[in-house]
Amino acid sequence: MQEAVVLVGGLGTRLRPLTLTTPKPMLPVAGVPFIAHQCAKLQAAGVDHVVLATSYRPEIFADYLGDGASLGIRITYVHEREALGTGGAIRNASAALESGANDPVVILNGDVLSGHDLRGQVELHRKTEAAVTLHLVEVADARAYGCVPTDADGRVTAFLEKMPDPVTNWINAGAYVFRRSVIDAIPAGQVISVERDTFPNLLLAASDIRAWQESAYWIDVGTPEAFVRCSADVVLGVAPSNAASPAGSARIGDAMVLLGAEMANDVRLSGGTTIGAGARVGTGTDVDESVVMDAAVVGSSTRVRRSVIGKGAVIGDGCVLDGCVLADGVVVADGTELPPGTRVELDVDIAGTSNKPLSDPAVTDTAASGT
Ligand code: GDD
Ligand code: MG
Repeated sequence: MQEAVVLVGGLGTRLRPLTLTTPKPMLPVAGVPFIAHQCAKLQAAGVDHVVLATSYRPEIFADYLGDGASLGIRITYVHEREALGTGGAIRNASAALESGANDPVVILNGDVLSGHDLRGQVELHRKTEAAVTLHLVEVADARAYGCVPTDADGRVTAFLEKMPDPVTNWINAGAYVFRRSVIDAIPAGQVISVERDTFPNLLLAASDIRAWQESAYWIDVGTPEAFVRCSADVVLGVAPSNAASPAGSARIGDAMVLLGAEMANDVRLSGGTTIGAGARVGTGTDVDESVVMDAAVVGSSTRVRRSVIGKGAVIGDGCVLDGCVLADGVVVADGTELPPGTRVELDVDIAGTSNKPLSDPAVTDTAASGT
């Protein structure tokens, strides 16, 4: 038996307004919820029991994943009524684990798609008998991540979460192997950050934390830019098959069109775009590197690029969207050219004449922050 915990309780603030209705791991990437790709990776790596550590909107996970049988795994849900932070969530999930005290338990951040060798990481953990083994990847700019220096033997020497001046470009990739007893030593029922509390404390206590350093395909989908990139990478096959479940038979050229979508003959789809089930796209329209969710409507002679169009959103004719995010059900009137990077929240009718009030336009730009 190999068990895993996936942390899916975050609010996904940087992906608002999409995450106002759908938790980040349930947003569609290449036509299926992001979490389905992670479950496929876990299953392929030999994991048979997955504990989902939920807090925000748990019912949306359970409705889709059920007991996990359709994905070839067994899923148990452990809910935090009040979010406990990443460390508190791992400790809380322990209630559903069946592993013995010395067994390795895989922990994943619920927003990371990774082509690394998870079996290899678990094997290293067993061989070294470490307390924890962290997957590290090398990135160009480590400031937004956990910065993790190591020594010549592959031991982690510090864990520095979101440092302004990173001491190395090797970062925490959000895939851990914990010895079960190390999870159970985390204080229960408290808000704890695994990055800011647990890892630094383990190092202070001279526990052995090892690094699995492998820069395979890796992406954290926490921002709109990364989210569209990731979906396009899966559709295009840039994301390797051990990172994501395949984009499936709905692929057309370098795009993916799901069942029941209606497309005018001359629609141009490119860059790994996905068109959701029952969506409609009008004549003379270009959609590049975007995610158009189920039942959305894109009018004619419109250009959509690097954007996410929420479920049932309606974009009129002759519109231009670049790097935009529209919440589910948003209406964009004919002839609207949105400023690049615009985010449109729920129940707002942009530049339109329709029934919904414009008194609180709630349009923010991509500088919107938070985690
Ligand atoms: N259950 C539960 N409860 N899950 C949580 C909670 C909580 O209170 N808080 C966060 N999570 C989940 C999120 O849903 C997400 O899947 C994961 O924990 C990580 O949270 P993020 O908010 O995405 O963190 P981050 O991207 O800023 O940083 C983390 O990931 C980086 C790699 O992508 C850190 O682990 C960094 O050290 C790391 O480099
Ligand atoms: Mg993240």
